Amino acid sequence: MTRVVGLMSGTSVDGIDAALVDIFGTNLDIKVQLVAGKTYPYPRDVRKRILDVCAGKPISMLELAELDDVIASCFAKAAITIQTGHQKATLIGSHGQTVYHRPLTEKSGKGKLGYSLQIGRGILISHLTGITAVNNFRVADIAAGGQGAPLVPRVDAALLSHDSEDRCIQNIGGIGNVTYIPARGSNWLSKIRGWDTGPGNSLLDLAVEHLTGGAKTYDEDGKWAASGTPCLPLVEKWLDVEYFHMPPPKSTGRELFGVNYLHECIKDSQSFQLNPADFLATLTELTAASIVGSYRNFLPQMPQRVLLCGGGSRNLYLKNRLQQLLGTVPVSITDEVGLSADFKEAIAFGVLAYWRHTNSPGNLPAATGASQEVFLGNIHLPLRS
Ligand SMILES: Nc1ncnc2c1ncn2[C@@H]1O[C@H](COP(=O)(O)OP(=O)(O)O)[C@@H](O)[C@H]1O
Ligand SMILES: [Mg+2]
Repeated sequence: MTRVVGLMSGTSVDGIDAALVDIFGTNLDIKVQLVAGKTYPYPRDVRKRILDVCAGKPISMLELAELDDVIASCFAKAAITIQTGHQKATLIGSHGQTVYHRPLTEKSGKGKLGYSLQIGRGILISHLTGITAVNNFRVADIAAGGQGAPLVPRVDAALLSHDSEDRCIQNIGGIGNVTYIPARGSNWLSKIRGWDTGPGNSLLDLAVEHLTGGAKTYDEDGKWAASGTPCLPLVEKWLDVEYFHMPPPKSTGRELFGVNYLHECIKDSQSFQLNPADFLATLTELTAASIVGSYRNFLPQMPQRVLLCGGGSRNLYLKNRLQQLLGTVPVSITDEVGLSADFKEAIAFGVLAYWRHTNSPGNLPAATGASQEVFLGNIHLPLRS
């Protein structure tokens, strides 16, 4: 058994999800037990600095260096705090904070690679915690010609595959991403698919901040949106964006579905008489319809079950809309099959660190588009005491 801390902060920039896990076994044959899970919000000013960089605001190299280490310190603090009162971990897997993601597309041209930058340097995390840390998980996949995302499908395959049920595991963070896992049978691993479905909560969160003058950062349980009515012609129009038509492998981020995109949505909505609740319902519908539409367009067949995770799985209105659009395919959350929906992504980066540490590959070429399976992550050792 290896005790590992998994650390994740996604495109929502809401805070650092920390999962303390015990991992047993090797490669795809692993079992994971969650010992503790908690989210540690970023200090307000750090969150603002991150969001500014993500929105394309120029910063100096000095500011970048400082932000890199402030984030590493926040991650280290989360790793230390989550272990309080527990037997200590011997390994940390830290995703870091994405501040830039420029994936490979058909237009990138020959010989080009994608680019993705996660900051919060691993060497500082390992020095501050005294524990070996693995970070920079996306780089090796990108170097092998992949998107560097999504990286969770291999973990989903290990922890959530089923003998007789085809499943979609749908994470709804700032961005949505899916792993399609056919029932375990011959060649099931090569039939797994994964891609970023588009906006998860990112546009909704930005809209709530905009509508409340910053007083609120998200629509709790989707209550506000639930009191409105989605404007379907607008959803149709928004679904015409090129990203939704691109076949997988594909990935995206706040560069596309961020503040500029929201401003376009606000502009578009002005020709319809929408109140704030209708506008939120319409953005929620975009998330739901883009997810389900991508299943219909890009999967060999519809799954037999959809399992949700990530913060958006707590948005009951969004969950209901997904269920409506999926008809007879049942929608539940991963907790119902024994894996925490709130901490699955953090757990996944603990597993990816464990795989790096034990020399198992971490990517699934079918999901990222990489030319081969590779070891993911850079290992950083603590200073000798
Ligand atoms: N109770 C809730 N109701 C509605 N939305 C929620 C709720 N809890 C969390 N969320 C949404 O989930 C987001 C955080 O999800 P998370 O999985 O951490 O995403 P990321 O990986 O992008 O950080 C929040 O910004 C918010 O939009
Ligand atoms: Mg988060």
